[in-house]
Amino acid sequence: MQGTTILITGGLGFIGSNFVDYLIETKRDQGLLILDKKTYAADLKALDRWKQNTQVCFVEGDICDAILLEKLFQKNNIQGIIHFAAESHVDNSISGPKDFIETNIIGTFQLLEASRKSWLDNNQKLKPAFKSARFHHISTDEVYGALGLKGAFTEKTPYAPNSPYSASKAASDHLVRSYFHTYGLPVVTTNCSNNFGPYQHHEKLIPTIIRKAIHEEGIPIYGTGENIRDWLFVKDHCKAIQTVFERGVLGEVYAVGGDNEKTNLELCDAVIKILDQIEPRSNGESYSKLITHVTDRLGHDYRYAIDATKIKKDLKWLPQTPFEEGLKITVKHYLTKRK
Ligand SMILES: NC(=O)c1ccc[n+]([C@@H]2O[C@H](COP(=O)([O-])OP(=O)(O)OC[C@H]3O[C@@H](n4cnc5c(N)ncnc54)[C@H](O)[C@@H]3O)[C@@H](O)[C@H]2O)c1
Repeated sequence: MQGTTILITGGLGFIGSNFVDYLIETKRDQGLLILDKKTYAADLKALDRWKQNTQVCFVEGDICDAILLEKLFQKNNIQGIIHFAAESHVDNSISGPKDFIETNIIGTFQLLEASRKSWLDNNQKLKPAFKSARFHHISTDEVYGALGLKGAFTEKTPYAPNSPYSASKAASDHLVRSYFHTYGLPVVTTNCSNNFGPYQHHEKLIPTIIRKAIHEEGIPIYGTGENIRDWLFVKDHCKAIQTVFERGVLGEVYAVGGDNEKTNLELCDAVIKILDQIEPRSNGESYSKLITHVTDRLGHDYRYAIDATKIKKDLKWLPQTPFEEGLKITVKHYLTKRK
């Protein structure tokens, strides 16, 4: 690749692929080197979208592979890393945590090591050729554990992860922090709430609601459906990432959220309301008749909420997409995908 390059790990995943689309729109001169293992969660069709684009170069590989990482750093002028790659589905982490430990913890460690070796000299100073380099770690609000009815997570909330997924992400956050304090590696971290939007894997909640509804199957809702999550449209998350990547203070953490707290049932009702309007059932009934309460997830956190004051005040980022508008775009996307 010519010029400077940003390494994007997990670029075939939900948020990573939306972020690549966003950078293609907004940074036409930026080289993008995508590293993805093509796990079950990867959207291989994303590669078709970028086929003609000379900005994008794709490498299939594992972030745990230190030799591959070393080669990528040798061959490319990697000036930035945006690290999305992860095992990301909580339910899978409960049934099989091993991959989460490997990718989320060991993989992040290998990436940190590769960037440390490439960017820093023996005195732990950035080499002149990498004086503007930075490593952006993408993380989740789930590292903070569960909230009761009141309050919201901030960057200062103590870590209290409750699932193997959030524990592995918490461990990776700590490693990233330690590379800043120990070695002076230029890092920033963002902890974001639940994203929604196009290109999410079908196993996740919103695509599942839509798929089950249009196939006239039971729409599964864990327990009573009263668990609360904050929802952010994925494009707004992409803008937050770009803002922090470009202007965030090194060593700092930014909590990112959409100010859209919804119970799972409220979210399901909002999706159904759109479906009832644009894709009514042939029997004239609402899709809500298909809602089926299923056994709750083990250790299901009650509520997550984000206080994003820091990124709003310091970096002037604001979520821009109203929840209903983002949800309409999302529902239409999955309906088109089905056709
Ligand atoms: N989805 C959300 O709502 C959300 C919210 C906050 C934070 N996050 C974080 O954002 C990041 C991206 O999440 P997502 O929802 O896009 O995930 P995803 O599961 O949709 O995508 C993950 C991608 O990483 C790739 N990958 C997995 N293991 C790999 C490995 N060992 N080496 C290289 N590539 C590998 C997969 O093939 C896939 O393309 C994750 O770090 C996640 O913790 C997600």
